Amino acid sequence: MAQVRLHRLVKNYDETPAVRGIDLDIADKEFVVLVGPSGCGKSTTLRMIAGLEEITAGDIIIGSEVVNDVPPKDRDIAMVFQNYALYPHMTVYENMSFGLRLKKVAKDEITRRVENAARILDISELLQRKPKQLSGGQRQRVAMGRAIVRDPKVFLFDEPLSNLDAKLRVQMRTEIKKVHQKVQTTTVYVTHDQVEAMTLADRVVVMNGGLIEQVGTPNELYHFPRTKFVASFIGSPAMNFVPCTIEEAAGTLRVRLSSDLVFPVPQDRTQRYRAHIGKACLMFGLRPEHIVEQRSHIEPNQHAFEVQLEVTEPMGMETMVFFVLAGTELCGRVNPNAGAQSGKRMKLVADLGNMHLIDDASGQVL
Ligand SMILES: Nc1ncnc2c1ncn2[C@@H]1O[C@H](COP(=O)(O)OP(=O)(O)OP(=O)(O)O)[C@@H](O)[C@H]1O
Ligand SMILES: [Mg+2]
Repeated sequence: MAQVRLHRLVKNYDETPAVRGIDLDIADKEFVVLVGPSGCGKSTTLRMIAGLEEITAGDIIIGSEVVNDVPPKDRDIAMVFQNYALYPHMTVYENMSFGLRLKKVAKDEITRRVENAARILDISELLQRKPKQLSGGQRQRVAMGRAIVRDPKVFLFDEPLSNLDAKLRVQMRTEIKKVHQKVQTTTVYVTHDQVEAMTLADRVVVMNGGLIEQVGTPNELYHFPRTKFVASFIGSPAMNFVPCTIEEAAGTLRVRLSSDLVFPVPQDRTQRYRAHIGKACLMFGLRPEHIVEQRSHIEPNQHAFEVQLEVTEPMGMETMVFFVLAGTELCGRVNPNAGAQSGKRMKLVADLGNMHLIDDASGQVL
């Protein structure tokens, strides 16, 4: 087991920058997920840690050793890819033990490790089968088993679930989490799926354009995004954004979304937002779950407003409502029994205690 440090890590492919100088400290036993849109440099980062890609500048430190020039096979790392490429002519047992046999590990030690990994992954019954006799999820487990038996310092996963159907993906996500709780190997996991990132990670690293936007626990990123990019990337349906201005009237600070819609700024934010009175280029951000139907009891930071619903989408446990405010489409999440109907007017409340104020020019949350 080991910690992993990336220090000012850079990768250019010819003239194309893929990773533009990232710093990241991953603790021993930690499960870190790199997430971000296609092309943001996730796989490149992972492949540099594995040693499959030469680094342009910076350092990679595994344990206490700088591994920049250490070949992949000597880094003591196991990688699981999207295409797990099991050998079709070998049984599950042979597939899982292949790497150990190459390394000339003693036979009973191999048996012990394979049986132990099979137990952890719940595939003990499948050891004598060939890959074609397995389901997609079972094959994925075998691929993980192959990594576990090597007892590496670090696990690297690159989108290991993207070949599975949606239901199996959710199942395997839970399995991967359970496996990590058992073996506790330091793990770096790449996905472009923010839900997968949130559910698996101790800490999530949001990447964008070859840089790290923010690192934090899933809850930190969700509730305290530092940039508009993170605010909009994390969470589904995505956060609502409306252009706004901050104004002061009769000693109270207010956020104005349109000529006839203005909300008071919560007390604990007045200090912070006062500097932005009258500024152009501000955005108001609020997640859909902080726009709900008006109830008999209104909480301190909740403020009512009325809208014309354009579309409603019943999801069972809740109903999504869509409406236009100051030319922008917004989404709220209301109780399925709240009587939301497309084309009808509805009284909603916005929970300003969860609002975000964003400088749209710099992309920073204020
Ligand atoms: N071998 C290569 N040669 C040239 N450019 C490359 C090479 N591999 C990746 N790139 C470029 O580097 C950037 C980062 O690619 P990378 O594969 O790390 O993205 P990613 O975040 O893993 O994306 P995805 O979610 O699509 O897998 C992209 O602009 C890509 O086009
Ligand atoms: Mg990739």
